[in-house]
Amino acid sequence: MCGIVGYIGARAAAPIVLDGLRHLEYRGYDSAGLAVLDRAGELQVRREVGKLANLSRLVDEAPVEGQIAIGHTRWATHGPPTQLNAHPHVSGGGLLAVVQNGIVENYHALRERLIGEGYVFTSDTDTEVIAHLVHLYYQNGSQGDLVDATRRALSDLRGPSAVVVVCRDHPDKLVAARLGNAGGVAVGYGEGEMLIASDIPALAPHTRRIAYLDDQQMAVLTANGADYFTLDGQPLVKDASLLEWDADAVDRGEFRHFMQKEIFEQGRSLTDTLRGRLDFVGGQVRLDSLNLSAEQARTLEKVTIVACGTSYYAGLVGKFLIERLARLPVEVDYASEFRYRQPIVNPQQLVLAITQSGETVDTLAALDEARRCGARTAAIVNATGSQAARLCDGIIAMQAGPEIGVASTKAFTASVVDLCLFALYMAQARGAVDETARRELLDALVRLPGQVGELLAEARQGDHYARLAARFGEFSNFLYLGRGIHYPIALEGALKLKEISYIHAEGYPAGEMKHGPIALIDGQTPTLVIAPRDSIYEKMVSQVEQVRARGGAVLAVAHAEDAQMRQLADAILPIPVTHELLTPVLSVIPLQILAYEVALHRGADVDQPRNLAKSVTVE
Ligand code: AGP
Repeated sequence: MCGIVGYIGARAAAPIVLDGLRHLEYRGYDSAGLAVLDRAGELQVRREVGKLANLSRLVDEAPVEGQIAIGHTRWATHGPPTQLNAHPHVSGGGLLAVVQNGIVENYHALRERLIGEGYVFTSDTDTEVIAHLVHLYYQNGSQGDLVDATRRALSDLRGPSAVVVVCRDHPDKLVAARLGNAGGVAVGYGEGEMLIASDIPALAPHTRRIAYLDDQQMAVLTANGADYFTLDGQPLVKDASLLEWDADAVDRGEFRHFMQKEIFEQGRSLTDTLRGRLDFVGGQVRLDSLNLSAEQARTLEKVTIVACGTSYYAGLVGKFLIERLARLPVEVDYASEFRYRQPIVNPQQLVLAITQSGETVDTLAALDEARRCGARTAAIVNATGSQAARLCDGIIAMQAGPEIGVASTKAFTASVVDLCLFALYMAQARGAVDETARRELLDALVRLPGQVGELLAEARQGDHYARLAARFGEFSNFLYLGRGIHYPIALEGALKLKEISYIHAEGYPAGEMKHGPIALIDGQTPTLVIAPRDSIYEKMVSQVEQVRARGGAVLAVAHAEDAQMRQLADAILPIPVTHELLTPVLSVIPLQILAYEVALHRGADVDQPRNLAKSVTVE
């Protein structure tokens, strides 16, 4: 989950790499560093523990001029966050430097081997073995060929790795390589300059022409372009694609945090998610990129959804949508569990991954397992240049724009809308839903982005959520309760609160309360219920009464004009009325805003919560 940036060209490299790291800080932020080949041809390294601002301060105090550089923000896997463990790691007395994202699973053996060769280690990291391995081959066997030395070093590694190497003897090139699911490696094509990075936000301010490295591939960047090879040295041809995003998409604009921006742009992002998918004349849903014909859709016997975290909770909503509309059995599994349970998967099944980043290692591994079992694979994915997007038989792009905040928000609502589109697509192929029902849902779907926009505009005007945060933000435990299609929203709301405010919050099926958890209810445990006026509303009313009777405070996500709930609950988080199957898209938004305001109230670091990273590319 680290961030890597490299630059080679005519401009000063250090500021560009630092700015790129700033755009990647959400990927890991316990230490950072950069290495610049200066005008005297020496490698200057600056590394600092803590936030990127600390490194920037260090570089300001000790500037370094040069036109080729690599940089790194770290999410520690091996070795605590210290200056010595920060990347880049150097070998050969300043001859070369390496940055890495991933894990060297056999680093103990390699470390012993290198110590035996006389290398002295200065860090506790696995990455340092890569630097010394490249140097070992550079001196012995590759005869000063940096590409060959890097290739040989990578061939000794086990585990996913993405690396970039810079060398004093080769001031005209950067060498990069990717092994396994180590998180993205994207190459940016500028005018007389080239960039490389773990993720698009570092490249978007400089170029929209992007190419991607896949597993077992290498790139050699010069200021005028890039050459690509397989790890065993075969030349590759790669075309650059045009990025759909532009530079503003990766800036906070007038918002305090990326999470705040991404919450409040969901009206627009959902408009983009729907764009090009609804044929209003025929009332049909179009998902050409899914690459699944009506005939193939009809022969499918089951859909298995695999995902992690917030994406998994979207998958739980998807189960309701697909089973209700397409009458197709759906199983939802944690991607991190799927491949270890010898899943019963066959060619008559579709394994559908949901992944914002498209690089989550557990989700990629679940897709590998699905392919091994012969199933058809698809991904609901935001980063369309990612590994998941490139390896599946088809995709449904979230079309939500870059999501930078570690806590996922607009990707969740985009995923749920994509799942609704998928369910409608399957229903129309299988003739499983009547025309009136389909029309009703389509009409509600078209209105949804506008409703979301109004809900957000209202929330942004007042201080309702800031006051709720002040009133409830000091508690140490919360319960989130939902029923039916709203149970996954209870799980997602609880995750939002715990991951950015560090409050213990538990999502639970409301009907399960009397089977144990109600013992938790007292004046110190507020309960948040999701209670729109739907077919199970009365059951939620009795739930609220049970909690109140035991002295628990209740916050209710409810329809704005629900007078009964206003009487019952201590606080209302209002939502407008929409189709029952789309209500989750509305009911999650107050929970996103509440979590954000509570985190602010508690002074937590909203965009870079402790111990977390945006894309989990290590197991
Ligand atoms: C959600 O707020 C978290 N950032 C995390 O649970 C995330 O949803 C999960 O890691 C899956 O990420 P993905 O969608 O990129 O695969």
